[in-house]
Formats: sequence, structure tokens, C-alpha cells
Amino acid sequence: MTKLTATINGRQERLDIEPLETLMDALRNRLHLTGTKEGCREGECGACTVLVDCKPVNACLFAASAVEGRRVETIEGLNDAPAKRLQDAIVAAGGVQCGYCTPGFVVMIIALLRRHPAPDEALIREALSGNICRCTGYAQIVDAVLAVAKANNGQQS
Ligand code: FES
Ligand code: FES
Repeated sequence: MTKLTATINGRQERLDIEPLETLMDALRNRLHLTGTKEGCREGECGACTVLVDCKPVNACLFAASAVEGRRVETIEGLNDAPAKRLQDAIVAAGGVQCGYCTPGFVVMIIALLRRHPAPDEALIREALSGNICRCTGYAQIVDAVLAVAKANNGQQS
């Protein structure tokens, strides 16, 4: 076991991890942050997306030891007004069915909206190209982000 210290959702955490443990397993099994979903474990589905120093990563491929001293945000920590607006928009657009993919999408979209508050459809689809949803067909999720982008655009003008 080795010691890991990192800021997780704004809280300083100290935990014991195995040398090769993934960030996904550390979050889910040691901190019980199970909103980070386990899908493929191969970096293909995006269900495990979290932010490390504001950048989205696949937590199933990211070594837990690599977040030493860094800032991690999971779906549980994304509860400010912009994140709530996005989640409401996804629900309103019918972008949640089984919901398994939803946390990964929300985390990825928040990262996008922080960089581009009013992204166009091409930017949204590019940002979400690593996230798989087997239920919705994606259009509803894209519509939700476009609705948020439109609202953000209105606020800027
Ligand atoms: S579980 Fe990490 S990308 Fe699928
Ligand atoms: S809502 Fe079921 S996988 Fe996306």
C-alpha cells in the first residue's frame, strides 16, 4: 500500500492505495464515490469520466497515484448552479434513460462548458465523441447542451 493525498471534490483526502490501483477503483471502493461508473474499464465508454485539475480523464485508465497533490472532481462534486442547470436540461430533453452513462456525460459536458460557455453542435459532438450511450441516440443529450449554450449566450449578450 502507498499513501495518496489529493483534493477530491474540494476536500483534502488521505488514503491508502495499491501501487497499480486505478483512480476509478480508488474513488468507488475507498471513497464510495460510486457516481463514477464502471463501464468498459478500457477507456472506450466514458462512463468513468472525472476531472483532474479541470481536465477530463478516463478514471479507469488513470493511475490513482498520478493524482497526488492534484484536484479531482467527480459527479458528486459538481453541484453548483451551472451543473444543476445542465442536469435539469438533460432531464427535460429526455437525455436520461437507464442513466448509467449520465454522470460521465455530465462531467464531460461541464468541462466543455467551462472552456466554451456557448458551444455549437459540432463542438458538442466532438467533446462527447468518447462517451457512449446505448439508450438515447445522443440527440437528446446534444439538444440539452444546445439549450444550455443558448441560455449562456443570452446571458453574455
Ligand atoms: S469504464 Fe472507463 S472508459 Fe469505460
Ligand atoms: S441513458 Fe442508458 S446508456 Fe445512456
